[in-house]
Amino acid sequence: MKSFYCIVGAVFTVATGVAAGTLGAGNTNIWPRADNVTAFSNFAKTLGLSDADIKTLGDKHAKATATELACMTAQCSLGITQVDTTPVNSTIVDENWYMESSSLAIIRLMFFDTGPRRVLNNLPASFCQPIRQVSFAVRSGGHSPNPGWSSIQNGILISMEKLTAITLSSDKSFASVGPGARWGAVYTALDPDKAVVIGGRLPQVGVAGLILGGEFGLAADNVKNFELVLSNGTVVDANAEQNSDLFWALKGGGPNFGIVTRYDLYTVPVYEVWGQIMIYAPSQALDVLKAFDEWQLDGASDVKSSIALDISLDSITIGLVYAEPADLPSVFAPFYNLPPLEIAVPNFNTTFSAVNAILGASFPTTQARHDYRGCSSKINTNLTQDVYKFWLPKAQALHNATGANQTFALQHIGSNLVQQGIDKGGNALGLSVEDQQWWTTIVDWDSESDDDQVRAVSIETTAQWKKLSEERGLDIPFIYMNDASRDQDPIAQYGTDNINKLKQVASKYDPKQVFQKLQNDGFLLSRI
Ligand SMILES: *[C@@H]1O[C@H](CO)[C@@H](O)[C@H](O)[C@H]1NC(C)=O
Ligand SMILES: *[C@@H]1O[C@H](CO)[C@@H](O)[C@H](O)[C@H]1NC(C)=O
Ligand SMILES: *[C@@H]1O[C@H](CO)[C@@H](O)[C@H](O)[C@H]1NC(C)=O
Ligand SMILES: *[C@@H]1O[C@H](CO)[C@@H](O)[C@H](O)[C@H]1NC(C)=O
Ligand SMILES: *[C@@H]1O[C@H](CO)[C@@H](O)[C@H](O)[C@H]1NC(C)=O
Ligand SMILES: *[C@@H]1O[C@H](CO)[C@@H](O)[C@H](O)[C@H]1NC(C)=O
Ligand SMILES: *[C@@H]1O[C@H](CO)[C@@H](O)[C@H](O)[C@H]1NC(C)=O
Repeated sequence: MKSFYCIVGAVFTVATGVAAGTLGAGNTNIWPRADNVTAFSNFAKTLGLSDADIKTLGDKHAKATATELACMTAQCSLGITQVDTTPVNSTIVDENWYMESSSLAIIRLMFFDTGPRRVLNNLPASFCQPIRQVSFAVRSGGHSPNPGWSSIQNGILISMEKLTAITLSSDKSFASVGPGARWGAVYTALDPDKAVVIGGRLPQVGVAGLILGGEFGLAADNVKNFELVLSNGTVVDANAEQNSDLFWALKGGGPNFGIVTRYDLYTVPVYEVWGQIMIYAPSQALDVLKAFDEWQLDGASDVKSSIALDISLDSITIGLVYAEPADLPSVFAPFYNLPPLEIAVPNFNTTFSAVNAILGASFPTTQARHDYRGCSSKINTNLTQDVYKFWLPKAQALHNATGANQTFALQHIGSNLVQQGIDKGGNALGLSVEDQQWWTTIVDWDSESDDDQVRAVSIETTAQWKKLSEERGLDIPFIYMNDASRDQDPIAQYGTDNINKLKQVASKYDPKQVFQKLQNDGFLLSRI
């Protein structure tokens, strides 16, 4: 199959809307020719293209596949500098975890300014048609390492990466954040105003992002409003008052309803915090897990405390954070009693933004193949140690054989975090109000030929969590979507009522099911 794709700005969602009756016809169809060359020429004249350009494009058009035509049309209507077509550097398509925005400098479209949007709304039907048959993928931060979820080989990549605006409301009660903004940039931008929002994970970290969650709930539960484009091109707001069913669904329902173009996030009354970062030797892992559980089962009831725990094959990083100025808060005593190899950052008061930057910087960022995987359980030291002992020799042997690096990370989720979600209007996740832990692993490796061998270790490890926790009555079926791998099914764990409600919301806001049928891949309701 010929590989062809183009990258366009979010504005193009207007044109991907309202899939025509030929859904499923595939994106490799040769688009019908002659009549539409005429239609193209008429359309191009309305855009003010020269006769020579019309002739060139028209000649191409006569041989174009639907994807090519969609890309050409996008170039015509949005401007040649705004839409990148093949052959572009294919690493841009493949990169999907860690990506410098500079590698995408060719995309210059600033989305949703009235010019291109107006043009797209006025596109003659004959030109929307091909676009509406073409598969697409949406890339916000591009952090999904799952292949084809924020990238596409033959279709349209709708890139949100230039939507990076970060603004604070005049009363500082909420911040508006574009989907392309990185959390580090969000915290830095809000820092001069002493404003803090509840962020997702640091992209390159995989732990630590839910710090403050114990006190205020998940990032999704602290969203005041989502602005999104529906499949028919309409831009709507979803919040507690407007489209509240959609608001509920967006807090956990993945890419099933529309494309979010702005998040309004409540600020929280935290600015100065206390922190300490310690490095332990891998040989201390069982003691570290024990100390972590002592905190989970006791100290963590103080919701101002949180711990980032990340075990790699080389070292163990423990980040202690207390959500106000302090001096060695006693809730972290189990760690003060366990001498580390090194105190990387000692007992200090600083800003939340600085802690975030330090935790982010202490993790490597490599350009390699990536996968991650998640599961959940009740808190039990024997269970965690047993799974760790299962994982370690496999991870070491794999490292020896392939060079793959992988981590063993745990996130404490206290009952208050779950309760916050309920108190803030509920979400679709179906979490039960109890203390629990979310485990995740991040795996980096180099060679495609090792994919199956590498992924087998994390797959076996989640199976071991499941087996032991079920045997011991410690199972929690929840899978955190941000940690889920391509073959996991986080939405399937939300419970039948929530799944049915999500499907109803999806049919109401996307009646033609564009996001299920044309979206390349993702945690789609149609998979369940
Ligand atoms: C493609 O882009 C990557 C990342 O920016 C760069 O390292 C590489 O040299 C580029 N390849 C070509 C052929 O331009
Ligand atoms: C031109 O495009 C329209 C859709 O807008 C399609 O119905 C028609 O069949 C096309 N013409 C030819 C000759 O294929
Ligand atoms: C942090 O600030 C608090 C309140 O001002 C103070 O009591 C505490 O000693 C400070 N901690 C450190 C490590 O300096
Ligand atoms: C953990 O295992 C040990 C021995 O295998 C047992 O004595 C202990 O009761 C277990 N603890 C828990 C909390 O299950
Ligand atoms: C991995 O290699 C190291 C160093 O060569 C060796 O000590 C260790 O036993 C190996 N581990 C496994 C599980 O193969
Ligand atoms: C694995 O970690 C080692 C040591 O930190 C590093 O040199 C190597 O590049 C890493 N490999 C991958 C695939 O990330
Ligand atoms: C777009 O879809 C929404 C939800 O189905 C609907 O309310 C709205 O009227 C539609 N807009 C247009 C222009 O068809």
